[in-house]
Amino acid sequence: MKIFIDSANLSDIEEGLKRGFASGITTNPSLLAKEPKGSFEAHVSKIIDLIRQYQPGIHLSVEVFSSDKDEILKQAQQFVQQFSYPQLSIKIQVGWNELEVIKKLADLGISVNCTACMTMNQAIMAARAGARYVSLFWGRIKDGGLQEECAIEREYLKAKNVLNDYDFDPYTVVKSTRQILDQDRIQSEIIVGSIRNTYDIRDAGLAGAHIVTVPPKFFKGMMSHYKTDEVVSQFLTDFKAWIS
Ligand code: E4P
Repeated sequence: MKIFIDSANLSDIEEGLKRGFASGITTNPSLLAKEPKGSFEAHVSKIIDLIRQYQPGIHLSVEVFSSDKDEILKQAQQFVQQFSYPQLSIKIQVGWNELEVIKKLADLGISVNCTACMTMNQAIMAARAGARYVSLFWGRIKDGGLQEECAIEREYLKAKNVLNDYDFDPYTVVKSTRQILDQDRIQSEIIVGSIRNTYDIRDAGLAGAHIVTVPPKFFKGMMSHYKTDEVVSQFLTDFKAWIS
């Protein structure tokens, strides 16, 4: 299981990259919108500078900001030219019209990360269309089965036999997507995003995610345990008593 940093915050990215555990960075328009107002190009370039400084060659995903398929295609090609970073993947949202864009970009040799996938069917369709990565949204898959505000759409799709309860269990969605990718020998990798808890990271990895993209606020928690603190302190105390 590879770990990506799910952030557009320069200082959080730097703190992560310094430590060497990350195999990539994912951003999205909402993450960028949390940063001080400014130029999109300049901000992404700063992220690339940090990558070059600390971990040259790792993955970077940058998302298009349009829902029009011609505009998506244009932006994707622009990003590739503008940023000229060989490990750049363009995040394209999953959808019927977007599949056509994914195919075109894949035919041009552009790496696509198909984002906002909630079901195995979406992820497999995107992978078959040529997406190098398919991003499944762990927290939002769960929310889709629980939130009251989604009840009408959820019950409608269930009644139509489009979805059933398995489609709202992220563990099952990721596991079944991985199973189909492996059994059909499709090269696409699963990125699990929308992480809400530290244990989501473990569960996503066990479900078969190739990559989990983690918000920086979870990193320190992933590295701490009270028994670690206890034993490290005990080692120091015992040694100091012996050496003196
Ligand atoms: C990652 O690629 C996604 O953009 C991100 O994890 C979405 O997370 P959210 O559901 O917390 O917005």
